[in-house]
Parts: sequence; structure tokens; C-alpha cells
Amino acid sequence: MNERDSETIAGICEQLGMVPCERPADADVAILNTCAVREKPQERVLSRLGELNRIRRRSNPDLVIVVAGCVAQIATDELRERGADIVVGPRCYDMLQEALEDLTRGCSLTEGGARPVAEGLPVCRTTNLKAYVNIIYGCDNFCAYCIVPHARGREQSRKPTDILAEVRSVVATGARDITLLGQNVNSYGHDLPGSIDFPGLMRRVDAVEGLDRLRFTTSHPKDMSDELIAAMAELPTACEHLHLPIQAGSDAVLERMGRGYTYEHFRSLVEAARAAIPGLSVTTDVMVGFPGETPTDFDCTMRAFEELRFDQAFMFKYSDRPGTRAERMGPKVPEEEKQRRLVELVELQNEIAREINVALEGEVFEVLVEEPDPKSEGHVRGRTRQNKLMIFPGGEHLIGEIVPIRAVRGYLWGWIGEAEEV
Ligand code: 5AD
Ligand code: SF4
Repeated sequence: MNERDSETIAGICEQLGMVPCERPADADVAILNTCAVREKPQERVLSRLGELNRIRRRSNPDLVIVVAGCVAQIATDELRERGADIVVGPRCYDMLQEALEDLTRGCSLTEGGARPVAEGLPVCRTTNLKAYVNIIYGCDNFCAYCIVPHARGREQSRKPTDILAEVRSVVATGARDITLLGQNVNSYGHDLPGSIDFPGLMRRVDAVEGLDRLRFTTSHPKDMSDELIAAMAELPTACEHLHLPIQAGSDAVLERMGRGYTYEHFRSLVEAARAAIPGLSVTTDVMVGFPGETPTDFDCTMRAFEELRFDQAFMFKYSDRPGTRAERMGPKVPEEEKQRRLVELVELQNEIAREINVALEGEVFEVLVEEPDPKSEGHVRGRTRQNKLMIFPGGEHLIGEIVPIRAVRGYLWGWIGEAEEV
């Protein structure tokens, strides 16, 4: 979602006639887009801001510094005090153009909450083969640990006509693989007139002429419906990939997180999806060391990972976020213990991911070729419908093509393959 926001910011800059440059020392404007989901990336924003301030002092006194995104929304005053000229939150990019036209004045554009996100902002995409398309902004779930509802505000579904217009426009300029974006795509449509829901939207996007692959992220387990699984199974463009964040394997922890499902329910969703969709890859997000997570709770997460065998997982240490319910929960798990749990889980998951890919050696996958492989001469790389990486010998003429590739050697990250004779 941040990447898609950066494409909007870049589009606004482009429309103003700005061009990218290599070094902040040569820039008129420096823009940081930011993530507040954990403390570390937020700290990094402050240190980047410090660097930009130093560059301004030493060699570029007219540099205008802009901080955008979720950190801008939740730490507005601190950023202004530390030298940011324009601070713009994720619902306010429509106001950025005006602010950039008048660089002499500092400002905070961080009206949040239920402010409607504007339609029709310009966009400058970095690739034309794949595109992210927002379908719903914000989040109303308020999971106990999460800053996103505070930073991105209330849920707001985009109109199907606006979404379809964007999809048609990116497909017309060469996009073959589209990801529909929302913090919880399953809530799509509840705030719109009529009966449109997420599976219904998928059906309409699937019907767009020229689209090859349709993906979405993220689906919340508490709201995932049988209709969604049916749509994934049935629609030709719907990719065999489901990203379903588990967050924890212990019911007690899930309860305190406010996730609204049990491990058993999560497991039944994964099983139903795997049964309905042959070749499905399932990926997840998880965190260790949530306040009050005992060694037994952590063991439930380890056992869940052994049982469900995810293709890939994004694994995090719990991080306190200001103003969330979990910030006030205890007891806090010590940093060394969180680190120990993370290492144990990562080792288990790495082994599982590698085993899954090794077991698929010899299979043929459709690969959308994206780019030359940066590490091996004469090779290109791309993704399968399951969103796994495939690197294989081939020339740049293949970029943009969907080709059948045999997986020859499986690794943690994907496969080395070879072109299948057709
Ligand atoms: N600490 C650690 N990880 C978090 N995530 C969200 N909030 C936190 C937090 N406070 C993780 C969740 C989410 C992913 C995007 O980031 O796993 O799914
Ligand atoms: Fe955060 Fe929960 Fe909303 Fe996801 S569903 S963005 S974890 S509050």
C-alpha cells in the first residue's frame, strides 16, 4: 500500500514538472514516504530526516523536506519540529500538489479519520507489467497491536466504476498482473450502496479484457467467506495464492489481539482453500512476543506452522505502538526472548519453505517474466501464479511474456528453472 502511495506522490510530482534526481544534495525537494507499523522503520524515518537536515545545512539550504505516509499522520508535530517542511498523511495526497506549488510555506496536511480519499490523483508507476489498485482505504478492525487504523483512518471503499476504470487503464498500458489492495479486502463494499462485495468485485475485474492475473491482499481470516474461495477457484485470472495473516497460533493470544477467530477456524479456512484450489500457495504474517505470550503460547505458533506448512511467512517481533491497546497490556516479553522466539520460528519456516519448493521440482509453472536476473548473466526472472520467484536462462526479449518453465532446483526463495519446449 505504501508503494502504491509512492506512485501517487510521484505522479503528483511529475504533473508539476518535477524530475527525479540522484542525490538529495542536488534536489529542490526530498520526499520520504513512511511506514509506522513497527518502531524500527519509524526510527529510521527520524534518522533519514536527520541526514536530510544535515545535507540542507551543509550544501543545499533551499532544500524542501516532505514527510508523507503513516508516520506523518501519527507523529506530525515531532516531524515538523525536526525540520520537515511539509508533513502529509495518507488520506491527504490531494492537498500535496498545492503545497508543493508554494514551497515557501511549511504545512501539516494530516486531517485523518474519515476524511474521504480523493479519486483521480495522478500516478507514476515504476513498471507497466504489474499494478497495484486500491479498492478500500483504512481499517476499522483495531487489532490491539496495530497502528494502521490510527494512521490510515476509517474504511472507505472505492466505487466499482472507479476501480474498473483504473484496471482497464493499466491493462491498456500493458499490465498483466494486478493486485487489489486493502487492509481488509473482505470488508469491501459494506459502505457502498447496492450489494457489491469483494467476491462480486473480483468477478467484475476478472472480466476485464486482456487481464491475465488477479491477486489481492490482505484478507482478514475473520471475514473470509466461502464465496471468496469459490471465486478464487472459479475465475480464470484469480491466482493460486492466498495471503492470510495468522498473527499467532494460540487462542489466548488471538483473543487478546482482538483478531476475532480461533486457530481452529484459521486452520479450517486454509484447508477449505487448499481443497478448492489445486496448487494454491498460502502465505502469512505472524508476530512473536505479543504482551503476555507465554512459552506455551509460542509453542502453539510453532505447532501451527508445522501443521499448516505455509509457502512463505513474514515474521515479526511484536513492537509497541503508541496509543494502541496492546501498548497498555502486560507483561511485556523481554527483547532477548522475542529475538530467541523469532529465530526459532524463522528457522522452522525456512526449512518448510525449502522443502515445499524442493518437492515441486520437475513441475511446470507459468512464469510472467519481469526482468533480467541481476545476479546471473544470461538469466531472467519472474513470478509464477503462486507468486514464487523463478530464475531461468533466457534473453530480455522474454520480458513481459508468460512462459511455461520447469522448476529444476528448489530453494527457500523459489526455483532455478529451464524453459519448457513448446
Ligand atoms: N508489532 C509487530 N508487528 C506488527 N504488525 C502489525 N502491527 C505490528 C506490531 N505492533 C505486523 C502484522 C501485520 C503486518 C503488516 O505487520 O503481522 O500483518
Ligand atoms: Fe491492523 Fe488488524 Fe486492520 Fe490489519 S486488520 S490493518 S492488523 S487493525
